[in-house]
Amino acid sequence: MQLQVKKENVYVPDLARLVSKRKMSGTETLFEFEFVEDRLRDLFDYRPGQFVQLSMFGIGEAPFSISSTPTRKGFIELGIRRTGSVTNAIHNLKLGDIVGIRGPYGNGFPLEALKGRNLLFVAGGIGLVPLRSLINYVVDRRSQFGDVTIFYGTRNPSEIIFKDELASWDALDDVDFLMTVDKGDKDWKGNVGVVTTLFNKREIDPNTVALVCGPPVMYKFVVDELLKIGIGRDEILVSLERRMKCGVGKCAHCQIGHKLTCMDGPVFSIFEVEQLQEAI
Ligand SMILES: Cc1cc2nc3c(=O)[nH]c(=O)nc-3n(C[C@H](O)[C@H](O)[C@H](O)COP(=O)(O)OP(=O)(O)OC[C@H]3O[C@@H](n4cnc5c(N)ncnc54)[C@H](O)[C@@H]3O)c2cc1C
Ligand code: FES
Repeated sequence: MQLQVKKENVYVPDLARLVSKRKMSGTETLFEFEFVEDRLRDLFDYRPGQFVQLSMFGIGEAPFSISSTPTRKGFIELGIRRTGSVTNAIHNLKLGDIVGIRGPYGNGFPLEALKGRNLLFVAGGIGLVPLRSLINYVVDRRSQFGDVTIFYGTRNPSEIIFKDELASWDALDDVDFLMTVDKGDKDWKGNVGVVTTLFNKREIDPNTVALVCGPPVMYKFVVDELLKIGIGRDEILVSLERRMKCGVGKCAHCQIGHKLTCMDGPVFSIFEVEQLQEAI
């Protein structure tokens, strides 16, 4: 499926304007952009799990997963952690400021293959940013999917992102949402323990597709739990991050073994990951 708007030079970004900015934690903010050109607001389409390259003019460019869902049109949302020069500059943007956006890139989640299936989302920390796109896609097209379970874990309550939305997923009768923090504080009344402790609280059907995104340390433990349940290696999908430059398969900065993360990924099955050295 070709989702990009056809262009002569793929490296030329489209201009987009910052329309809202919502602080989610000490280091993460959700940015909402709309394309300056009217026609792109309808034309720009993407699949959950894909990413864009965002240019801060005069500073640099960096890849970010699209966190909004293509079922809600006219804007895109990026949840961005402040880490270095580009992300700092993005955090300093004011409403109305202009950036460059090119994409969408990468494979994204295999929506057709997920239809009718039971889904288990396992998100750790900022890993919720890309998974949120697919979660809201599923919420908006709920009848197309089987059972939906969401496990979300953060290190402590101050790192919880998308708080309003978590409450709205929790309130849905047809979505089972559970969360935990590694370490609580005096106000925390919920589960305490790493995200894998949530597996003891639910019986997950082995006939489920698992969608996992979080810090590298989380993957091994979560995958072990999923394999114990009996979920197949090709039904455990993870989203990987690598240093990227071009985003379009030309520079090999994002290479892992014989795969290019920007083209073959960022979504891979654990079966594929196990064939690649140092993928996680
Ligand atoms: C497909 C993809 C999707 C991404 N989605 C998001 C997202 O939704 N939200 C978000 O906040 N970030 C995301 N990232 C990471 C983001 O691209 C980097 O944080 C960003 O490039 C840092 O740029 P900078 O100039 O601010 O920092 P730099 O000055 O380049 O680096 C600051 C620090 O971050 C580390 N770093 C830089 N790039 C990466 C990377 N790709 N992976 C791990 N560490 C890195 C550096 O080693 C350094 O320690 C994604 C990366 C990829 C490849
Ligand atoms: S980022 Fe250039 S080939 Fe992937």
